[in-house]
Parts: sequence; C-alpha cells; structure tokens
Amino acid sequence: MAALPRLRARDGAGAVVERLREHGAVIVEDLLDARTVIRINDEVDPHLAAADPARPHLNPAVAWFFGKRTRHLTSLAAKSRSFATDVLCHPLLLGACDAVLGPACARYQVNVAHLLDRGPGSEPQLLHRDEDVWVHVPRPHPELQLASITALCDFRAENGATRVVPGSHRWPRERKPEPSEVVDAEMPAGASVVYLGSTLHGGGANTTRDAWRRGVHLSYVVGWLRSEENNVLGTPPEVARTLPRQAQELLGYAVHDAIASGGGYLGAVDLRDPVDMLADGSL
Ligand SMILES: [Fe+2]
Repeated sequence: MAALPRLRARDGAGAVVERLREHGAVIVEDLLDARTVIRINDEVDPHLAAADPARPHLNPAVAWFFGKRTRHLTSLAAKSRSFATDVLCHPLLLGACDAVLGPACARYQVNVAHLLDRGPGSEPQLLHRDEDVWVHVPRPHPELQLASITALCDFRAENGATRVVPGSHRWPRERKPEPSEVVDAEMPAGASVVYLGSTLHGGGANTTRDAWRRGVHLSYVVGWLRSEENNVLGTPPEVARTLPRQAQELLGYAVHDAIASGGGYLGAVDLRDPVDMLADGSL
C-alpha cells in the first residue's frame, strides 16, 4: 500500500520540500497549534452558518465537482484574520513556496484561499491535478502551484479525508492510479497535507451520518499567472489595509517585478505598486 510521508512543523521547510520533490505530497502534523485552530473555527462559524451548500456555481462542471453538500467559504482572508495572519503567511508554507515556486517567478501569490466544510453524504471528488486549470501553459513546465489542505477538525477516511496519490507528480499524464496507490490523508486538526500542483488528489467521500469535515484549501501560484480566485476583489482595499503587508503582497496587491530577470512589471496601478499605495493611503 502507498503511504504519505509525515513530518512535524519543527522539521522545517527544507524537509517539507525534500518530501514534496520525492513524493509530491507530505503531511505536516502540527502546522497549527490547538489555539489557532479554535480561533479560526470561531471566526468562520458565523459565515458557515449562513453558507448554503447548494450555492450556484459558474457552470455545471464546477457544481458537480463540489457537489451539493459542501459549505464553501471563499476569500477566507477577508473572513478570518487569524487565517490571514497565521495560515496564509505561515513560515513553513512560504518556505516551501520559496523553494518550489521561487525559481520560476519574481514573486508568488495566493491562488485560492477557501474553507470547505464537506457534509455527510458528500461524494468523492474526481482525482485531479490542480495545475490543470492553467491548461494553456505548454508542458513540460516548472511547478506552477503549491497547495495545502489544513484540517480544522480531525480528518478520517469516513468523514472524507483528502485522497492523495503519492508519486503521481512524476507520472505520465495518462496513467491512472490503482486503488492501492490512493492514500487517505488522515490527520488530526491543525495538521496539513501539502502537495504540488502536479500531484493527483481529491476530496474523499463523507460516509458519516452527521460529521462535517472542515478544512482550509490554500494554494499559491507563480505571480505571473492569473489566480483562480480574484483575490484583490475578494479581499478589497478596505479589508486588505487592515492586514499585515506580507498578507497584502500575497493576496496580489504587490507588483510582480521581473525587471532584474529582463522582464517587466505586472499588476501596477497608475504606474505604482499597489501595496505601497495601500501603505500611504492612496488606495
Ligand atoms: Fe484540488
């Protein structure tokens, strides 16, 4: 049977990157401490109470992918300050991004920052590679995206723990996994499964009668590609200016400055860096 490597947060970003390169995914047992998990859960509870599992989606394929039993909070940085400061800017995740995404860009940014609360009866998601949303980037290409699912409750096979296919980041595109190659990322609250955009994975089936499976889906992408979520509109200036500068930068307020590599600026406003404009009050 396949297995996922497991680390502790204190093992550091270098160990995470080593496992990512070898296995395509790794579980970090204690990315968040218990108090941080409680704080984030408290902050999102009112938003989740108002969330409709049968919300409309952009098109039927997306609706099918998420199903009708998932409470879905988007733009999480605008809804949970603790998420924005303690997860989005987590040194271990950013250290991994520095190594995995850094060589292919001048700056990486948030791709999506969502909370998915998958209810009883949720069907398993199709196993997929997150990077396939950028289908127009010719292959082979460098790693474009690094993702994480952080557990805000205990993840078990029965409540729909994320399923991951270790090693699939190196597979030919047409290879399909055998059942024995798919691993349930079972882990306690506060742990995170970190994986590459090229690694096959998907949400598992929630076969419990009454247990919701709450997790944060946070991914980062090279700063020159369009992000799945429009993070600047999702976390608008009036909210972003209350967050640390690092969070602002990651949410897409900073220009992607590739001048030193012979490139140019992306994302300027009025020929300026929007993150500076947030700082001086002109945005
Ligand atoms: Fe995914």
